[in-house]
Amino acid sequence: MADTITIIDDRTGKKVTVAITGGTFPSSALRELDPNLFLYDPAFLSTASCASAITYLDGDAGILRYRGYPIEQLAEHSTFLEVAYLLLNGELPTGDQLSKWTHDVTHHTMIHENMRKRFVDGFHYDAHPMGMFVSATAALGTFYDDAKDIFDKQSFDKQVLRLIAKVPTIAAMCYRFSEGLPFVLPNNSMPYAQNFLNMMFRIGEDHAIDPVLARAMDILFILHADHEQNCGTTTMRVVSSANSDPYTSTAAAASALYGPLHGGANEAVVRMLSEIGSIENVPSFIEGVKNGSGRLMGFGHRVYKNFDPRARIIKQTAYDVFEVTGKNPLLDIALKLEEVALEDDYFVKRKLYPNVDFYSGLIYQALGFPVDMFTVLFAIPRTVGWLAHMEELLGDKEQKISRPRQWYIGPDERDYTAINKR
Ligand code: CMC
Repeated sequence: MADTITIIDDRTGKKVTVAITGGTFPSSALRELDPNLFLYDPAFLSTASCASAITYLDGDAGILRYRGYPIEQLAEHSTFLEVAYLLLNGELPTGDQLSKWTHDVTHHTMIHENMRKRFVDGFHYDAHPMGMFVSATAALGTFYDDAKDIFDKQSFDKQVLRLIAKVPTIAAMCYRFSEGLPFVLPNNSMPYAQNFLNMMFRIGEDHAIDPVLARAMDILFILHADHEQNCGTTTMRVVSSANSDPYTSTAAAASALYGPLHGGANEAVVRMLSEIGSIENVPSFIEGVKNGSGRLMGFGHRVYKNFDPRARIIKQTAYDVFEVTGKNPLLDIALKLEEVALEDDYFVKRKLYPNVDFYSGLIYQALGFPVDMFTVLFAIPRTVGWLAHMEELLGDKEQKISRPRQWYIGPDERDYTAINKR
């Protein structure tokens, strides 16, 4: 059977046959038929916007791989910085490469004093940390006059390093500000996740971070590092396609992530569980969802129509964390919700399974993070994925500035009416 598709324009009888490659065919086929014919695809349900070699996702089979490596193996054996190197460079680092990369990241963690004293101090005391994170990330670029040199490989790599190294510092700074706590400087002798937890929670001199909790944070960072063309990453690519600098592009991607249907879902899950309040209320809550009074947050996914493989790993990590912190009281409600939903026709028919956000919030809460910080915890590791996609886009000769077309449904031409005649 030929790997081609033939499209016939019944208006003219013209037909075009093009190759199907990697499950896609080029939209130029439509332009060949008629330059004014466009595919109408709201929310990109049937559009592949790029060719990418970074992350493979099979939503029906529940498979997720970074550069070919199964997420389960990376979560078990790797560290976040090793995974970051893999996503950015395409291969796992050698021992020397990993030492240099780790050294470089840990020695770029400081941020300019003006960021904290003048920029962050300007926020209202109860500003949402994600709003602060988005604006601080964009502002960070203004401190580097080489930020815009995106086609100079050395300069681009430097911005990548700076962003990956500094986003945990920015995140912790936003949190400490909102709590009225003094800022904790980064500690270059600590691994990435441990240093982040230290900057977040250190009070006084003797504040040891439990290694189980630091490892759980690192695993969560690995699981969130990339997820191909989701809303935030697509935003990153669209903004980068205009050749904006990596800081403002990252801020734009983080803005998309902020939404409750995307990275904000982990926050929404914990709020939902708190509102449900007890196991007895689960059935009536599920009935409410089925009758249209809201969604079961942390369930469903545009691509996964099977278990989100990240959700399985996170569920296990949750138990490891609760061994140290004690069980999050919302866990029982979450387990019951999962049990009821997975047996209910409504959810089964629509292939709605727990996604990455269903259990992550419970871990964040057990680690001591306030709910407002949850999406920031998603944005820190996803910065790696965004930057890997930006670099791939800039090197892709087929890419141009993103500029979709529209189907105009407004009024035809009409004459201006004077205000006293309306
Ligand atoms: N609870 C109840 N019903 C749902 C849910 C849910 N969580 N998700 C989808 N549905 C229903 C929806 O009402 C629709 O039903 P019907 O066909 O009768 O109209 C059907 O399932 C298909 O939903 P959809 O909105 O067309 O699916 P989508 O692919 O556009 O949306 C989603 C995907 C993730 C936005 C959606 O499942 C959702 O809102 N989930 C809750 C929010 C959430 O957990 N988001 C985190 C996503 S994973 C992390 C990330 O990517 O950031």
